[in-house]
Amino acid sequence: MYLGIDIGTSGVKSVLIDESQSLIATETAPLDIIRTQSGYSEQHPQWWWEAVQKTMAALQKTHSKELSGVKSIGLSGQMHGLVALDQSDMPLRPAILWNDTRCAHEASLLDAQNPAFREIGGNAVMPGFTAPKALWMRSHEPDLFQQIQTILLPKDYIRFCLTGAKVSDMSDASGTLWMDIERRDWSEELLTACGLTKAQMPALVEGSDQSAMLSKDIAQQWGMANDVVIAGGAGDNAASAIGLGVITPGHGLISLGTSGVVFSVTDQFSPAADSGAHAFCHAMPETWHQMGVILSASDSISWLMETTGLSIDDLAQKMAATHALETAPIFHPYLSGERTPHNNADACGAFFDIKRHHHQGDLMRAVMQGVSFAIADAYDVLTDEGGSPSSILATGGGSQNITWIQYIASIIGAPISIPKHMEIGAAMGAARLAMLASGQKIDAVCRPPAIAQTIQPNPEMAAALAPARQKSQDLYQTLAAFSN
Ligand code: XUL
Repeated sequence: MYLGIDIGTSGVKSVLIDESQSLIATETAPLDIIRTQSGYSEQHPQWWWEAVQKTMAALQKTHSKELSGVKSIGLSGQMHGLVALDQSDMPLRPAILWNDTRCAHEASLLDAQNPAFREIGGNAVMPGFTAPKALWMRSHEPDLFQQIQTILLPKDYIRFCLTGAKVSDMSDASGTLWMDIERRDWSEELLTACGLTKAQMPALVEGSDQSAMLSKDIAQQWGMANDVVIAGGAGDNAASAIGLGVITPGHGLISLGTSGVVFSVTDQFSPAADSGAHAFCHAMPETWHQMGVILSASDSISWLMETTGLSIDDLAQKMAATHALETAPIFHPYLSGERTPHNNADACGAFFDIKRHHHQGDLMRAVMQGVSFAIADAYDVLTDEGGSPSSILATGGGSQNITWIQYIASIIGAPISIPKHMEIGAAMGAARLAMLASGQKIDAVCRPPAIAQTIQPNPEMAAALAPARQKSQDLYQTLAAFSN
């Protein structure tokens, strides 16, 4: 048995699989977000740990026998979150999450003053990454900053709770922007630029390697043996890729979760910082990836649900009453600013071209089309930078929505395959990394998924949407001057 635990933004998911990777059980526990000011997004690290324990208690109730046979555990999680621990290893403040944009000023300072972040770190310094979050802490909470003994990422905080060891993996650590991505090690130069040292950073391992052993106390509590291995694990996107068998250069995925991601495996460090693409290590040795990230994919739909008070089914029904090729109003999904390609924390959400006859169904269509345009903008960046994937799998909650995938496939002009089993996601990737850390072979473990269907681009739809996409891009250029 193997366990994968994913520390997501909206919840923790634990999955239990057997030797043949059949899903034995899965449990989730929701998480809140603290948003005290515009652009702020925080969670208490303790909440993650409580949510992990909830999922494990639920698994114990129904699958205690299977849990007793767990050989290893893999961790994945939301990337970039700053967890700052004091000398007693207590969090100094709530974690500042990936979608928190308060450090936009610090990010542009670092980017302008330290070209090494682009050259060694492989990325433009964006507010989502960990480095500018720490710099924000240094300028706004200097007393707390002085007390930082260790910086961890969300899933690595959970590893610390499980094992007492401070370790990260290459893929997740890439998103701190303190790594020399090509050499797969911390960069003293980049750390120094933020007033930090390597001593404050966790040790680094490959995602598929062993990182530490589950502590005896917790093993006993969860009814497990004394020799349970914890794998290095991965950032959630790299973990999803592992879960989908996306490990070969040229293979890619599009993820429609809270954020939207276009991910493409590369056989070398391929920085393209100027275009807003991310260049990170993959969770396998000697493999890297390029990634384009939009901040509000499914989150835009959640926002529309909250704002209209309608359920997703209601919105879908109302949208079905509009015409698939009809041009809906324009929607800009920049509700939390945007990363790829704009790198603009101040970018705002917008509806445009609203007419008297439009109703909630048109707004839903506008949101779905607007997010699809944004995904296509991120995809174009990878294509322009040589990271164009030759095959694309869909993942994340939104990937079950065929209409949405049809829009994206048509706009980017490439087929997108939808896996048969919805549970294949970051937690499954984490469980696969657990299998690898127990010595199983990559080819046997990282198999591609069974495909439910492949959505081909629809040229008629592409032609119908092209003017709206152009208008949306032009509109962004105009509106960017007004956003703040
Ligand atoms: C990736 C990113 C998001 C989070 C979401 O760079 O910021 O995909 O990992 O969990």
